[in-house]
Amino acid sequence: MKFDTPATTNPIDRMTVVGQPVARIDGQLKTTGRAMYAYEWHDANFPYAYGYPVGSSIAKGRIRSIDTDAAKRSPGVLAVVTTLDVGKREKGKFNTANLFGGDEVQHYHQAIAVVVAETFEQARAAASLVKVDYEGATGSFDLTKAKDTAVKPDEKQQPDTAVGDFEKAFGGAAVTLDQTYTTPDQSHSMMEPHASIAAWDGDKVTVWTSSQMIDWWRSDLATTLGIDKDNIHLMSPFIGGGFGGKLFLRADAVLAAFGAKAAGRPVKVALPRPLMANNTTHRPATIQRIRIGTGRDGKIQAIGHESWSGDQPGGQLETAVNQTRLLYAGENRMTAMRLATLDLPEGNAMRAPGEAPGLMALEIAIDEIAEKAGVDPVEFRILNDTQVDPEKPERPFSQRNLVGCLKLGADKFGWSQRGKPGSRREGNWLVGLGVAAAFRNNLLLPSAARVRLGADGIATVETDMTDIGTGSYTIIAQTAAEMLGLPVDRVAVQLGDSRFPVSAGSGGQFGANCSTSGVYAACVKLREAVAQKLGFNTDDVVFENGQVRSGNRSVALSEAAGPDGLVGEDNMEWGDLAETHQQSTFGAHFVEVGVDVATGETRIRRMLAVCAAGRILNPITARSQVIGAMTMGVGGALSEELAVDTRQGFFVNHDLAGYEVPVHADIPHQEVIFMEEADPMSSPMKAKGVGELGLCGVSAAVANAIYNATGVRVRHYPMTLDKII
Ligand code: MOS
Repeated sequence: MKFDTPATTNPIDRMTVVGQPVARIDGQLKTTGRAMYAYEWHDANFPYAYGYPVGSSIAKGRIRSIDTDAAKRSPGVLAVVTTLDVGKREKGKFNTANLFGGDEVQHYHQAIAVVVAETFEQARAAASLVKVDYEGATGSFDLTKAKDTAVKPDEKQQPDTAVGDFEKAFGGAAVTLDQTYTTPDQSHSMMEPHASIAAWDGDKVTVWTSSQMIDWWRSDLATTLGIDKDNIHLMSPFIGGGFGGKLFLRADAVLAAFGAKAAGRPVKVALPRPLMANNTTHRPATIQRIRIGTGRDGKIQAIGHESWSGDQPGGQLETAVNQTRLLYAGENRMTAMRLATLDLPEGNAMRAPGEAPGLMALEIAIDEIAEKAGVDPVEFRILNDTQVDPEKPERPFSQRNLVGCLKLGADKFGWSQRGKPGSRREGNWLVGLGVAAAFRNNLLLPSAARVRLGADGIATVETDMTDIGTGSYTIIAQTAAEMLGLPVDRVAVQLGDSRFPVSAGSGGQFGANCSTSGVYAACVKLREAVAQKLGFNTDDVVFENGQVRSGNRSVALSEAAGPDGLVGEDNMEWGDLAETHQQSTFGAHFVEVGVDVATGETRIRRMLAVCAAGRILNPITARSQVIGAMTMGVGGALSEELAVDTRQGFFVNHDLAGYEVPVHADIPHQEVIFMEEADPMSSPMKAKGVGELGLCGVSAAVANAIYNATGVRVRHYPMTLDKII
């Protein structure tokens, strides 16, 4: 089905199941430990062996030789496979650095060997006996130093933008701000480390793994192994978080496959937590310069945003200026991004790549310029709202209710009680309020699904969509239930298996809208098949209460399915509605902090998010996404930072003891409000996404609250107490 005209009334609009607070259908499996995560797959007939990865201890250079003799003689060892053994491989389409293979070292903790043994402990012990002779090379590891060597990226993919005459308007503005902000390298730090099991059967391999994107992984694994994609069966039915770190094939799957081949046994490989920060990807650090000029009335006349980030050769930008092209009005504007070559581990997508660090900077800048212009920061944002793409005024937003989010949020949060910086003290705490806008684009990827209706009246949905903890199982069940007039418990959902139709996968907050749209399309096909079989008129056919009805005829769905059942399968494809209309999601974050007058320590006291993001498919799972994202934003504001050793070229704090993320107890009160919306431009579901929106802007709202509490303006994340005291 092609979605190329705005959605009209359809069965989803009934909202008897969709939009309802349905508890996770996979909740019991998870809470009782029966949901099988990658490393847990178990088959009593499978003689599993365990693979332990060895990471490079230099950041750049080549490997002269690897001595595996001692490791191979170690108790229980079945095989040792080194990067020299497998030789240089063709890289997957989505990987920047090599995952495994060849003598070149591109970053610290790059996988250079896997030791396979009867037990995990034997493999780990033997791995410590692998001796490597390196020939080190000088690398570039310091973004601040490399900034001046940064280059303009591919003009087609990431052009500089300019509208009007920025320099002139900025030079002539009554009120101006010119500040530089920095965001550090960040690590996904998801709960479940990367893990895979590989089992060969002749030239076919089955891989259980932890992947956000089944089809991307399968293609890239085929390329890396040098085998046909059809010979790979990939499964990832349950995933303990991804945050973008599992979008692209990682080394654990490659090591498991090579290890299993060499050992002649199925092999399990989990990346040890200390390898995750340097072996996998991270969110690259940014340096961002923002210039804003306004009139005395606080209206933006000029807005400019430049960002510098670094990555491996052939790598990509952290697109931190994206939101600045779209968020506020202003006739004179410019954005530019520059990329430096760094030999740190590969930078890549982490939850809301681009907008998350971009808003960390922009939304402090807005707080600063509002104060300079003497306008309340909520009012300032309302004053500078736009209903069209400010770079292309002929393109309206499909829906945009940032103003509504700000107004409602200010009212609910008690914004009017906010005082002057440093004016509110409660005991040892300086208390302050902060606000920031949230913005994230709505992305559309094709998504296919198959729905089988059985003689038992149960509909089974099959799609390779993944559930990274987001609630995909549940919203997909709700979609099929609504389309087929069945209760949710009459729908079975099977996900994360490469034998199923290719979905959008989980990423970019597109998963919910796109994958349910694919299920919608498959259900339309199934409804047609049912109607056709019964000889019903497709125009007036109604699916309701387990029955299919047309005119005065009514048949139970189970009966309609017949003994052989019926199948509907389709792929949702997207027309150019996203070209004619800018599709984005909006929100407003409000934060109250207390800052200890003696230590400078910041504590979150209250948080509120108001989101305008199209139809909310399930308020429970959507809320969970947003409160989790808000928590992540607090981490970004206060603690998260990969510390770079700029001499040796690696992230020093590569575990959860050194890389600090907030826990529930750090945030006593969180509230989320969803605005009533249904966007007919986004899909037949009229939904968008909230998983990344919930993070966007949060860290800046914390920063602005710290300023309001203390009068100290911090422009460099994380806002640790040494920067405040
Ligand atoms: Mo998201 S960073 O696209 O998983």
